[in-house]
Amino acid sequence: MAVAVVYVFTILLSIILTWFTLCVRKRQVGEPPLENGWIPFLGVALEFRQNPLEFLRSKQRKYGDSFTCKIAGNFFTFIMDPFSYSAVFRQGKNLDFQTFAIETSRKVFGHADFNDPIYNRNYKEIHALFRQTLQGPALHNLTSSMMENLQTVMLRNKTSEWTTEGLQSFSFRIMFEAGFRTLFGREEKPSEMENIEPKKFQMTTAMDNFNVFDRAFPEIAAGFPIYLLKKAYTAREALTERLQHKYLKKNHGLSALIERRMNLFDQMPYLDELGKARTHTAMLWASQANTLPATFWSLYYMLRSPEALKVAQTEVERVIQESNQKLDKMKKTVVLSKEQLDSMSALGSIIDEALRLSSASIMIRVATENFVLNMDSGKNVSIRKGDRIAMFPQMIHMDPEIYENPTEFKFNRFLDENGQKKTFFYKNQRKLKNFLLPFGSGVSECPGRFFAVNEIKQFLALVVFYYDMELKDPATPVDIDCSRAGLGILPPKHDVLFRYKLKDCISE
Ligand code: HEM
Repeated sequence: MAVAVVYVFTILLSIILTWFTLCVRKRQVGEPPLENGWIPFLGVALEFRQNPLEFLRSKQRKYGDSFTCKIAGNFFTFIMDPFSYSAVFRQGKNLDFQTFAIETSRKVFGHADFNDPIYNRNYKEIHALFRQTLQGPALHNLTSSMMENLQTVMLRNKTSEWTTEGLQSFSFRIMFEAGFRTLFGREEKPSEMENIEPKKFQMTTAMDNFNVFDRAFPEIAAGFPIYLLKKAYTAREALTERLQHKYLKKNHGLSALIERRMNLFDQMPYLDELGKARTHTAMLWASQANTLPATFWSLYYMLRSPEALKVAQTEVERVIQESNQKLDKMKKTVVLSKEQLDSMSALGSIIDEALRLSSASIMIRVATENFVLNMDSGKNVSIRKGDRIAMFPQMIHMDPEIYENPTEFKFNRFLDENGQKKTFFYKNQRKLKNFLLPFGSGVSECPGRFFAVNEIKQFLALVVFYYDMELKDPATPVDIDCSRAGLGILPPKHDVLFRYKLKDCISE
């Protein structure tokens, strides 16, 4: 028996020693300090996932502004110094974003492999559509469509009684439906759809499916096969089923983004109908997954701070009065143009501050060659082909040198002394270019960022205009759920109750 134990022990020890000798990566000259972790393949994944901010802070204290960590089979070199972010963004030649992004998106949404050269030309055109249809002049149409849709959804229930609801449930259901209608249009009347669609598409079902799928998103993005997550898979397929062109083509008020994407996908002979619809599910997710929690936090922080609420009310009243708007007696809706929204700097500051506190996205690039990264400090860092460069802007957002008392909500943090948008933030007495990055930066910067801020501003302006609102328990703070760190805006750990009622002048 004793001989057998020694025998097994010796074999195990030799396997471990062989693994350490042959498989564990060694740091080479010029490379940043390296943490392999002690779990084969996973490396430091568990520690990192538990609390990315604390993990990175502790490694920064140990190693300085750049270090490499093994996480789930990949090597990530973290760049901690915000002044060196631009050095990474300038490395377009040696760093790839698109191949990596398409691979991840394919894993999650099951769409075609757009890295395959057969799609290449069309894919570039499709990607170019983001800017053409979400920014610049195109933003005017989106803004006015969103304004109308928000009010349609909000004013469906015109009760003048107090209603108690979860703040998350309230903000999610209004923003989901209004955002959905703005991009994907709204249905014909059911009678006109009878031949093609037996059941009326239910917005609540779509939202439930979206939530089920979204909750599983971190696991799927990390590589867990969606087929094993039955509920998430069924939810994704139900959303996809409904986003097929045969249904979308019947919708009123499709956005230019979706209409032009549909035209381009229809010209791709290798895509079947479900294949096209899967790309729309990806677009739906991109347009909602961060916007919903960002809206929640903006409203939550505004309601928790009486000062913020007062300033927001004053700003909304001023803009509506200045535009000489009288509520349309029949429709009782207000119109706020893109320019008016741009002029609402107090609401802008509330949103920026909510984004600063809740955003935890990670910017990743993959090295296509061995190369040397010249850091802002003058230090050179060797990067290996296939490794990932990672930047975690939450480090900047929570840096007390840049933002005094960084965990506190200050509604006017992003306002200068003239009440205009503040753009000067410093570290080591140097002005920072990258001080607020909820939307990423460089090639991966969110193309929907202007629309996103606009729609949240519209939502805040409208709830302030239409409702009296109060949190049930403003003294008890809601914690942020950090389990999605790396994926964008973090959700609250749980919902909070609030009550609202239409203002008397509106319900009369
Ligand atoms: C508060 C709301 C939002 C936040 C915080 C946000 C944040 C981000 C971030 C950080 C990325 C880069 C992801 C990466 O580096 O892998 C991104 C990408 C993207 N976002 Fe947003 N986003 C928001 C709203 C929207 C909206 C409303 C839309 C569209 C209507 C949108 C469309 C996209 C698209 C299409 C991409 C991928 C771009 C590409 O592949 O080049 N986003 N977003």
